[in-house]
Amino acid sequence: MTDTLRTAPSTELLTDDPTWWRQAAVYQIYPRSFADSNGDGIGDLPGITAKVPYLTQLGVDAVWLSPFYPSALADGGYDVDDYRDVDPKIGTLAQFDEMIDALHAAGIRVIADLVPNHSSDRHVWFQEALAAPAGSPARARYIFRDGLGDGGELPPSDWTSIFGGPAWTRVADGQWYLHSFASEQPDWDWDNPEVREDFLTTLRFWSDRGVDGFRVDVAHGLAKSLPEVLPSKAELDALPKADGDHPLWDRDEVHEIYASWREVFDEYDPPRIAVAEAWVEPSRRARYASASGLGQAFNFDLLEADFDATQFHDIITYNLDAAEASGSSTTWVFSNHDVVRHATRYGLPALDGRDVKQGAEWLLSGGTSPEVDVETGLRRARAASLFMLGLPGSAYVYQGEELGLPEVADIPADERQDPSFFRNPGVDIGRDGCRVPLPWACEGSSFGFGPGDAHLPQPSWFGEYSVEAEDADPASTLALYRAALAARRDLQTDETLEWLPVDGRDDVLHFVRPGGWHVVCVFGTEPVDLAALGLGGAASGGAVSDGAEVLVASGPLSDAGQLPGETAAWLRA
Ligand code: GLC
Ligand code: CA
Repeated sequence: MTDTLRTAPSTELLTDDPTWWRQAAVYQIYPRSFADSNGDGIGDLPGITAKVPYLTQLGVDAVWLSPFYPSALADGGYDVDDYRDVDPKIGTLAQFDEMIDALHAAGIRVIADLVPNHSSDRHVWFQEALAAPAGSPARARYIFRDGLGDGGELPPSDWTSIFGGPAWTRVADGQWYLHSFASEQPDWDWDNPEVREDFLTTLRFWSDRGVDGFRVDVAHGLAKSLPEVLPSKAELDALPKADGDHPLWDRDEVHEIYASWREVFDEYDPPRIAVAEAWVEPSRRARYASASGLGQAFNFDLLEADFDATQFHDIITYNLDAAEASGSSTTWVFSNHDVVRHATRYGLPALDGRDVKQGAEWLLSGGTSPEVDVETGLRRARAASLFMLGLPGSAYVYQGEELGLPEVADIPADERQDPSFFRNPGVDIGRDGCRVPLPWACEGSSFGFGPGDAHLPQPSWFGEYSVEAEDADPASTLALYRAALAARRDLQTDETLEWLPVDGRDDVLHFVRPGGWHVVCVFGTEPVDLAALGLGGAASGGAVSDGAEVLVASGPLSDAGQLPGETAAWLRA
C-alpha cells in the first residue's frame, strides 16, 4: 500500500466521475477473435486499436477485454502464464499502452479480465512447484495432496472438474494437484500470503498502466477449505451452496480477499472498479457487489431466462431491488464467450430452466436438430437487447451481438479448441461457436477479420452479418445498437424505473424512466396498440401527433400505431 493517490492519465473525454461504471454500456472484446492486424489468424491488440473508430461509432462507454496474457490457450487464455505481460502472439506491452491511449482518447474505459482462481501450468510458480518436493513452500502456493490407495495412485477424491474429467492430476513424484477447470489450470491456494500479495502487485501493475477496472473470473472460487478427509463428489454435491461454508464455492472468507483489493482500487482516482463473475445464488450476489468489495457483480438471470415477459419482469424487479439494497447497480447480459449467442438461443425451443451453458442438444447435433428458427431468433434478440439497453444499470454487450450474429454450430471436431469439448466428449460441445472471429467485410478469406485466415472456421454465410453489410443499412442490427446506445446516452437518468400496467396482456412489458423515457416490449406474437398504453399516435420514423415520439424500435411499427409481436420500442411521452 502506498499513501500517494495515483491518477488516471488525463484525456479530454474521460471524466473523473467515480460513478462512471454504474450505468455504463460495456462491450466485451474476445481479443483473439476480434480483429487480426497481421494475418496470422489471431486477433491482436493493434487490431483492437484499429477498431477504436468502430467502437466510438457504436457508442459504448467501456470495453472489457477477455484475457490477453501469455498463455498456451488451453482454455482460450483463461490459463495465464504471466499476469503482468501481454501474449507475444497478440502484442506487446507497448502496443497495450497504445491501445489504452487510443481508447481513452475516444472516451472509452478499459476493463481487464483477471483470472485469480487458477494460473496456467506454465506459470513460473507452478513450474517451481513441480520442481520442488512435496511439502515445500513452492507447492504451498497451489493445492497439492497425496493420493489414496497403497501407493497414492488414486486421486485424493473423485471430484470432477467443471469441464468434465477428474479435478486432480498427478505429478511426477506421485502427488496430485487440484484444478477446478482443465488440468492446465492449477488452482491457487488463497490461504498463501505470497499468492495474495502477488495479485495486489498485478492489480497495481495494470491500474498504473491506465486500466480502469477488472472483471474478476470465477470470483466465487478463490477461498477454499479442504478438510483432511475429503468428501466424495456425491457428498460435495449434496452440501448446501449458499451458507458460506461449502469447501469450494462462495465461501464467506472470499470477501476478505476482495476487501484487500478494494484498498488497492481506492488508491486510484477515480477508484478502479471491478465486476465479479460469481455464479452464486442470487441472494448471495450482494456481498460481491458491496462497496467494500468488488463493487459490482454480474447477474446472469436474463441470460438464463427464456424470451418471456413474466420471467423478464420478475428478474428485473428482483435485481433492481437487490442492487439498491447492496448500494451497487445491477448488470444485464445476454451473451458472452461462454454461452450460445442469444440470436440463436431465442430461435430454439425454450430452455425451461435447463442449463444454458452446457449440453445444448442443438449444438451437439451440429446445429441440425432441433431446427433453429433464425428469423425468430434474431427478431427476439433485437427486441430483448433494446429492452435491456433501456433498463437501469450496466449493460454488457458481447462482440458480434451488435451484428445479430448467430452461433456457429458446425465446427469440425479437429478444428475445435475449447477444453470442455475435449474433456467431456459427447456431452459438451464446447464454446467455440460463440468465439468465431468477427466478420468485418462481406467477402475475403476471413471476411475482413484480417489479411489471412481465421483461427476458427467461419461459415459461408458470415459475410451477411458483416459490419460492411450492415453499416449502411438503416434496418440492420448494427444500426439498431448504434441508435439505441446513442439515445441511451441522451436519455440516461437515475437508476429507477416504474412499471406501467398493460391491461389484458401478460405478454407485454412497459416501464417508464424519469424524463418520460418509455420502454415497451411485446414478448408474444400479437401486436399491441400503443394508444392503449397511453402512447397514442406513435408511428415509425419519429415525431407523432398526440405526444408520443418513437425514439428507437427493434422492428417497424404499423401505420396504425401498433407495435408488432416480438418487438420493442423506446418512446418519449
Ligand atoms: C470463466 C470464464 C470461462 C473460463 C473459466 C475458467 O467462467 O468466463 O471462459 O473457461 O472461467 O477460467
Ligand atoms: Ca494477429
